[in-house]
Amino acid sequence: MMAGECKEYLFKVLVIGENGVGKTCIIRRYAHQLFSENYRVTIGVDFSLKVINWDSSTSVRLQLWDIAGQERFGNMTRVYYKGAVGAFVVFDLTRAYTFEAVTKWKEDLDCKVKLPDGRPIPTVLLANKCDQKNKYTDFFLDNFCQEAGFLGWFNTSAKENINVEKAGQFLVERILENT
Ligand code: GTP
Ligand code: MG
Repeated sequence: MMAGECKEYLFKVLVIGENGVGKTCIIRRYAHQLFSENYRVTIGVDFSLKVINWDSSTSVRLQLWDIAGQERFGNMTRVYYKGAVGAFVVFDLTRAYTFEAVTKWKEDLDCKVKLPDGRPIPTVLLANKCDQKNKYTDFFLDNFCQEAGFLGWFNTSAKENINVEKAGQFLVERILENT
């Protein structure tokens, strides 16, 4: 690269998963360093921007699409997913059925959005509310991710600020590999 040359990327990243798993809280933590216990259900979709000075010559703008859990039963996900280059699928460690729904979210994602070369977009699994419960073994989640096509997983807590930044870094690294 020539001296002084700077790269600026804009990446659309989806955050999906069942109602109340903590998608909005994770995004608020990641983009704004805020957390609140008050649950306000997301209607449709919300957006946040996270700007990352990746290195001395690279800046990354993440456009985070916070998609309401109930949208899995709607017809809009194809529209929302369009142009995304990465995704987080979130479940709630305190509610088993939210983990069971992960596969459905992943399948919905993979059949509606792909990278330009046809590969699935890089996707990371987030086991949220790890401040409350930690019920799945590393071995189990490693295997699950391999079978379901996730690049990896993190135990996260939006509340206690555990691994949110780390998961973001991990996904951005994978996205940059595709540029
Ligand atoms: P929808 O918008 O309905 O799809 O839900 P969501 O996935 O956006 O969930 P939201 O972020 O609104 O969080 C739901 C509830 O879980 C809120 O009451 C949060 O305070 C709580 N919550 C979110 N993250 C955490 C966490 O890491 N730990 C704990 N203990 N509670 C959390
Ligand atoms: Mg929400």
